[in-house]
Amino acid sequence: MQFIYQTMSKENILVVGSNGQIGTELVEELRKIYGESHVIASDLQKPIGADERGPFEILDILDKVKFEEIVKKYQITQVYLLAALLSATAEKNHHFAWKLNMEGLLTVLDAAVTYKFSKVYWPSSIAVFGPTTPRVNTPQYTVMEPNTIYGITKQAGERLCEYYFNKFGVDVRSIRYPGLIGWKAAPGGGTTDYAVHIYHEALKNKKYECFLSANTALPMLYMPDALRGTLQLMETEASKVKIRSSYNLSGISFTPVDIAQSISKYIDGFTISYKENDPRQAIADSWPASIDDTYAREHWGWKHEYDLDAMTKDMLENISKSVIVV
Ligand code: NAD
Ligand code: SER
Repeated sequence: MQFIYQTMSKENILVVGSNGQIGTELVEELRKIYGESHVIASDLQKPIGADERGPFEILDILDKVKFEEIVKKYQITQVYLLAALLSATAEKNHHFAWKLNMEGLLTVLDAAVTYKFSKVYWPSSIAVFGPTTPRVNTPQYTVMEPNTIYGITKQAGERLCEYYFNKFGVDVRSIRYPGLIGWKAAPGGGTTDYAVHIYHEALKNKKYECFLSANTALPMLYMPDALRGTLQLMETEASKVKIRSSYNLSGISFTPVDIAQSISKYIDGFTISYKENDPRQAIADSWPASIDDTYAREHWGWKHEYDLDAMTKDMLENISKSVIVV
């Protein structure tokens, strides 16, 4: 199907890295708001089994020439930059993680100046915090000494966002996502991925071997909440967005034991076991257990809706009806 560029919405939005865990769902939500032809999905390759409901471009964000061609072709006014290596994958190739996570962001921020984008969205992560950060109810402003390459790129990225806002007036907005849990797409190589895999394994095999230890508490958020928060931040009047590095955002905090107990309420006989010596344990141990998101609540009215059991019920119901394999 051929897409004809329309001018009904004033905004034309490019989502970079649209095939991933967040992009798959975010594109759907953005298209509901702005119209299908105004939201251009892009990734390294066309998604397998993709429907043809909106424009898609093959784009490697490290290819600046192609990126700018797309910006001009669709008269892009906003970019959501989701392309990145996540924590566990990044540890396997720290040079490339630095290249992709930093150059991709610089390319988008520079284009925001040149092409006068109305807004840019770039997600940060709880990985900006490190082992010297207070772990419980981690404040917005605190010690930040990340010791993973992923966290280092997110910390540097936050500084860049604030710099481009102050120096060039780029309206860049960001959230430090906790681990995100959703059923529509597989997670892409993070430390919090276990909290998605566990639901699939529970339904398939009634058991799960977890790569994190039983009492590893991490901040998490259900995808519908994450999408709502993202869109809410992006719709907030610019003067109310007072933090231009990235906002702490909190939803649920739980351990593998907690999620297993929640699943057991819906699946009789579910069991969890624990794998030892997984490298992701050290990453998890360096991150907060819970997050204080007072500023997001005060500045733009953030409020999460799903607790652990509500998320579990929804995940299990939807995975059992869907064909997605993780
Ligand atoms: P993901 O790994 O699921 O998706 C990333 C997408 O980017 C993939 O589809 C991949 O093909 C694409 N991509 C990779 N290299 C690219 C390139 N060079 N050019 C264009 N596309 C490329 O990741 P996600 O979970 O959707 O995360 C998106 C963003 O949100 C990332 O910045 C991530 O750090 C951040 N984040 C995610 C979580 C989470 O729990 N999912 C938590 C905190 C922050
Ligand atoms: N979910 C992400 C990860 O584990 C957190 O940024 O990498």
